[in-house]
Amino acid sequence: MQLIESPAEMAAWSEAERLAGRRLGLVPTMGYLHRGHIALVAESRRRAARTIVSIFVNPLQFGPQEDLARYPRDLERDRAMAEEAGADVLFVPSVAAMYPEGFQTHVEVTEATRGLCGAFRPGHFRGVTTVVSKLFHQTRPHLAVFGEKDYQQLAVVRRMNRDFDFGIEIVGVPTVREADGLALSSRNVFLSPAERRTALCVPRALEAARSLHAAGERDALRLVAAARRVLGEEREVRIEYVSLVDPETMQEVGTAQSAVVLAVAVRVGKTRLIDNCFLTPDLRGGS
Ligand code: PAJ
Repeated sequence: MQLIESPAEMAAWSEAERLAGRRLGLVPTMGYLHRGHIALVAESRRRAARTIVSIFVNPLQFGPQEDLARYPRDLERDRAMAEEAGADVLFVPSVAAMYPEGFQTHVEVTEATRGLCGAFRPGHFRGVTTVVSKLFHQTRPHLAVFGEKDYQQLAVVRRMNRDFDFGIEIVGVPTVREADGLALSSRNVFLSPAERRTALCVPRALEAARSLHAAGERDALRLVAAARRVLGEEREVRIEYVSLVDPETMQEVGTAQSAVVLAVAVRVGKTRLIDNCFLTPDLRGGS
């Protein structure tokens, strides 16, 4: 596995691989890799001849009160994990290379970013789409892999890809979870053992809504209430949102007639956790 730090060198590597006729996959990350990231690498390797993993803790997507300074980092461990997973290139640009003096251009998806995390993290998705655009241009991939764990991010990147004619195949990968149901996240290291147990109310809340939906409930308010009830049982949990949305537009829906996404964001202590699940009508049932 090659370690590349300079965007110019990255672009030259990709150009040579493209000229050799090889299909390139990109897995953008902020590092502190876990099995969720590795599942994305595996998916890229199934679909592309070469896989680039990028690690860049993007200052642009963190608000002034957020955890940029304490975001976990461990390049040596990440390097070993990416190599073990079969990445061909680990691309680790510096902040100075990504945002040199005078940087002032941004990419913004306006509608799909209004609700959910967009409402609680002003400027976050503008930072994400700006950095992802830069990574797309620097690495010139045929496909890019994102996790469904950050479902709104996936939908926003798909929208940007269409609106700005990137022509990249955007691939979504299902959320990888711990055995007890908690979605893997680099931020889980911030949870104390007690908070880690409390955090299990998030997958339980999704499960409560899912089983109500499986029993035939289609009303958004009732499905959301079922999830909120479970989260409300934990005193240390502060709910940011529980929302039922269209999987493409991210707009709230009133009923779950077609496939919808139930998305949840909470704070457990100082740690912000997000999770979601699809609620899909059972096509076998004749209703
Ligand atoms: P990061 O949080 O490091 O996540 C990188 C990718 O891994 C994202 O596509 C995310 O959805 C995916 N991922 C995280 N946890 C996952 C899990 N448990 N199962 C499956 N996939 C998971 O998301 C970002 O970084 C940044 O916003 C980025 C896209 C790199 C732009 O800076």
